[in-house]
Amino acid sequence: MEGAIISRSPNTRVAVVTGGNKGIGLEVCRQLADNGVSVVLMARDEARGMAAVEKLKALGLSDIVFHQLEVTDASSIDRLAAFLESRFRKLDILVNNAATGGNERLDDVIIPGVEKFDGMDVHQRLEWMKNNTRETHEAAKQGVQTNYYGTKHVTEALLPLLLSSSDGRIVNVSSSFGLLITPAKELPCIYVELRRQLDDINSLTEKRLDKLLDAFLGGFDDSSEPETCGRGRTAGFSAYKVAKAAVNAYTRMLARRHPALRVNCVHPGYVRTDFSMNSGLLSPEEGARGVVKLALLPNGGPTGAYFAEGQLQVSFV
Ligand SMILES: NC(=O)c1ccc[n+]([C@@H]2O[C@H](COP(=O)([O-])OP(=O)(O)OC[C@H]3O[C@@H](n4cnc5c(N)ncnc54)[C@H](OP(=O)(O)O)[C@@H]3O)[C@@H](O)[C@H]2O)c1
Repeated sequence: MEGAIISRSPNTRVAVVTGGNKGIGLEVCRQLADNGVSVVLMARDEARGMAAVEKLKALGLSDIVFHQLEVTDASSIDRLAAFLESRFRKLDILVNNAATGGNERLDDVIIPGVEKFDGMDVHQRLEWMKNNTRETHEAAKQGVQTNYYGTKHVTEALLPLLLSSSDGRIVNVSSSFGLLITPAKELPCIYVELRRQLDDINSLTEKRLDKLLDAFLGGFDDSSEPETCGRGRTAGFSAYKVAKAAVNAYTRMLARRHPALRVNCVHPGYVRTDFSMNSGLLSPEEGARGVVKLALLPNGGPTGAYFAEGQLQVSFV
């Protein structure tokens, strides 16, 4: 269900945020609306999305509407594009935030309270997460479909509207895991080759990327951990890392192809959400800040870059 039309100035910027019903996405919606942006909060589940909009309205933020979006469903994406075209005729900001972990939680895991992680450092927290999840082919496939192909298909459908804006922006919420900086000996062999190819900025194409992702998923075996190039266990979260690496590469390609847009990706930090099973160090409000900063960069700002917690780390273009 969509909200009532409210009158706005033609200069009001319009933003859409995928996975806006909770966590970092919900906070991005709140902070954008707080900055005078007209926000379309999207969620795959209508009840969860409507409840999130109501929560923001209760804070006095009125220029927010809900629209359903399942990022892996082409007809859902088409409905969103048609809605935006008829309601706004343009789009100024697209925040691709929706994601899954690319793994499964162990059956008996209950998300603990934040106090569970008191006194643990980052490595201990990540180790706890790794020990409470398992990497399966099905979850890996879903992670790649949602995190990479979901981002790509939503972006492609909304590109004409973004190009109708005088200052269109795309912010892809990525992760430091997507930098693939894990030592090669802890990586599955297939993704050492993937890293080499993704780093080859000038030869990489979307077709090549599809083949690399197919090869990665094809090599995934539920019965054992992926084979590493060195001795020892993998550092975990393989599918998530690969999907976010693909998002970073796609950001780079898109920025080159559309110089009129600002296209960037951002690591929000390690944030306490359902996704991290509350193990993060930052609040969702803190995590969302860097995402919103990129969405609201002044005209002519950087494009094709990777940011972490609001700071420029790598410029790819
Ligand atoms: N939390 C961290 O420490 C951390 C660190 C680095 C990067 N990130 C990135 O930050 C972003 C937000 O993460 P978060 O921590 O806020 O996670 P979260 O609380 O689990 O929220 C994820 C959101 O994505 C939605 N979603 C998942 N699959 C979807 C699909 N197929 N179609 C549409 N929506 C879908 C979820 O909807 P449902 O509620 O319906 O499941 C939810 O709204 C993600 O891109 C994540 O990779 C997070």
